[in-house]
Order: sequence, then structure tokens, then C-alpha cells
Amino acid sequence: MNKIALELNETLGGTAAARLLSDFGTRFYFPKGIISQSGEAKKKATRFNATVGMATKQNIPMFLPSIQKLITGLSEGEIYPYAPTPGVPELRSDWKAEMEQKNPSLRGKLTSEPLVTSGLTHGIMVVADLFVNAGEKIVVPDMFWGNYRLIFEGRNQAEIVTFPFFNASGTINLEALEQSLRSCGKKISLVLNFPNNPTGYSPSIAEAQKIVDLLHKLADEGNDVLCYIDDAYFGLFYEEDTLKESLFGLIADLHENLLAVKFDGATKEELAWGFRLGFITYAGKGLNSEQYTALQKKTMGAIRASISNASRIAQSLMLKGLQSPSHIKEKEDAFQLLEARYHKVREVLGSQGSDSPLTPLPFNSGYFMTFTYQGDAEKLRVHLLDAYGIGTIAIGTTYLRVAYSSVDIENVEELYTSIEKAARELL
Ligand SMILES: Cc1ncc(COP(=O)(O)O)c(C=O)c1O
Repeated sequence: MNKIALELNETLGGTAAARLLSDFGTRFYFPKGIISQSGEAKKKATRFNATVGMATKQNIPMFLPSIQKLITGLSEGEIYPYAPTPGVPELRSDWKAEMEQKNPSLRGKLTSEPLVTSGLTHGIMVVADLFVNAGEKIVVPDMFWGNYRLIFEGRNQAEIVTFPFFNASGTINLEALEQSLRSCGKKISLVLNFPNNPTGYSPSIAEAQKIVDLLHKLADEGNDVLCYIDDAYFGLFYEEDTLKESLFGLIADLHENLLAVKFDGATKEELAWGFRLGFITYAGKGLNSEQYTALQKKTMGAIRASISNASRIAQSLMLKGLQSPSHIKEKEDAFQLLEARYHKVREVLGSQGSDSPLTPLPFNSGYFMTFTYQGDAEKLRVHLLDAYGIGTIAIGTTYLRVAYSSVDIENVEELYTSIEKAARELL
């Protein structure tokens, strides 16, 4: 094994993080190659810096005027150069500060520095490579973002184990969750995504505490637990009793046998879907800063080996956005707009008859809501498209997902009455 990987493994020795690493993760490291040599040169090469594979003129990156004329408000250095593999330092520290601001439970707890990825998808992929071996199980609710299957099963050859998300009273089915977690053996991997895609559900404070208690119990029994927290839709919580912060904060120092990994980013939170900016942040009880650095180094290796580094211009734009005095207000305005659509959906659904062939699954947050359909949901999807010009997503033949986040409030009523009408027409 590479000498640097051995050193990192030694630093992590004895921790749950070390035990949870996959073969890939155990092997991985961040090489002292071009990146670290050019880092050294940045500090010491006062005469000429002939290290990085970029073209400069008078120390400024060269550029094409046809591109440059389109961009205002950023210097050439904020647009064109490669970003560092872990991300632009100021963006990382500002994002961390925001994370603590948004998650009071996280304050005072030691975590890694956020590492910048090319969107959340890439972050999940990188962490899956580092922690999942072929044949291992990974638990997700039966309502989950389909890309998990492509990542964990398609790429990593793991097995996704699902549990029925809701019990009869419309809250998270904790018994089923526990059963699935116990079926994993001594290494337990779990993905929690709130607000959930596709249901739009987030737990109440009491429910979240029960999940935390369950994870504590499993860790305390001697299992190693890896909890992926997918916070793609963070912040879009529309009901009073919903947990308004990430579960990551609640489990960040829960138990020495538990490692939590938070995935968040600009995609939905900053309304910058195509920027491809996400963050990976680790937390585990008892991990010291050298151990977090070791985890970061392994992760940087996996980032370097996949995309090398995330987009510089996107990071610069996001940093300027975060630092803008109007940023908080602008996000609040966007939140209110989506929240108003949510309440409109509730109002329209509330006025529909109780004999509807469509039953909404519990929802209280995020972009989506999902119906259970008495007929064939795929046929309904096609009928909605052909007869009404309405696009929705069928999940198998039972569920229909509606992204009300992308329909203006004045059209919400028509959207839902059309779906109801179409659903009746097919039965
Ligand atoms: C639950 C969930 N996680 C992650 C993502 C992907 O985020 P990104 O576009 O940043 O890769 C999505 C996007 O739809 C999602 O629904």
C-alpha cells in the first residue's frame, strides 16, 4: 500500500471511521504530486512559478475576450484558475460558519472542514467509494432518490435494503428501520434524506430524537454505524413541529462507533442547480483534528481521482452570494414563495373529496409530494402528459410524484384538479 495511505490509516487507527472504510478507502490518500508541489511554489516561488498547467500573462490567467465580456463582478483570478482540490478556502470556512448558524445543535462540536464537490451527487459517490465494499448492505427508506441505486448498487455493487418509510399513523416506521439496520450485520450504513425526495417528508422533533436514540442504541451495542445525511433540500421546512435543523447536528458527537457524513450544497439551497457545488462534512465523537485531516486527505484523494477539483467560477459566485448583505433576505423570499405553494397544495387537497383515488403520503417540506394511486401510476403519468400536457413522475406503478416547487402558485389549483380528474378517468 502507498506510504501516505499507511500513515493516514495509522492516524485513523482504532476509530469507527477506520473500521468503516472500504478497501478503496483504506488504500486512498492525497499524493504529494503536482498539487502539493505547486502549493509550495505558491508560497516560495517569488521569481517564476512554472508549476501548474495553466497559461498566464503578467501573472494573470489568460482568457478569451468573448467569454470574459460576459462576466462582470469577478476578477480573472476568481474565474479561470483551477480551484484547490478541497475547494476555495474562504468558501469552505464561510459555508461551515453558515452550517453552524443554521444548525444550533452543531455549535461547539468538532467536525471536519467541508470539502467542495461537484454537486451532492459527486459527494455521495466519493464517500460511497471510500466506505462501501461490494456486497455490503446500505439501508434507505422505500421512498428514496433513485440515484442512490445507481451509485450504491450500480457503481459500488452494494445492496440497497429498504424499509417501509411510514407506519399506519403516517410517521416514520422506526420498527422497520431498526429491523433493516439490524439486518446489515456489524457494519451498518444508512442514508437519511430530509426533506425527503420523493415524499417531501421531514421528521418532527420527537421523531428525530427517536431516530437518534435508535442510532445510539445500535452504536452502543458495538456496531459501527455510518450515517449519510443528505441535506439537499435543507431549510425548506413548512410546519411548526418539524425539526428545523439537520440530523447531522444531533448525531455529530453521538457515539464513538458512529460516523456521520453531511452532504449539502448550492444546488437547491442557493437555487444554483447547474453550478454543481456540494460539500462533504464529517463528524464523529472522539475524532481529533488530525483524524479529521486524515479523513479529509483520503476524501481529497477521491475527489482528485474523479473530478480533480470543482468549478472555480461557481465557487467564486457562490462565495460572493454568501457574503452579499442581501443574501439572507433573498433566501427568505425564495423560501416564502415555496412555502406559499406548499400551503396552496394543502388547501387544494383539503377541498377534494375523501373518495379520491389518490392519497397523499405524509409531506411537510421540500419540493415534492407523492400520491399513492389506486390505479396504475405509470398509466396516469402518460395520460396526464397526453391529455392534459402535465408532466409528473411515476414511481413504479403505485406512486406519482408532483414537484409543486416548479409550478407557480396561481396554477397549483389547476394542476391538482387536473391530476384528480385524470386519476378518476383511468379507473
Ligand atoms: C435527495 C437528493 N440528493 C441529492 C440530489 C442531487 O444533488 P446535486 O444536483 O447537487 O448533485 C438530489 C437532486 O435531485 C436529491 O433529490
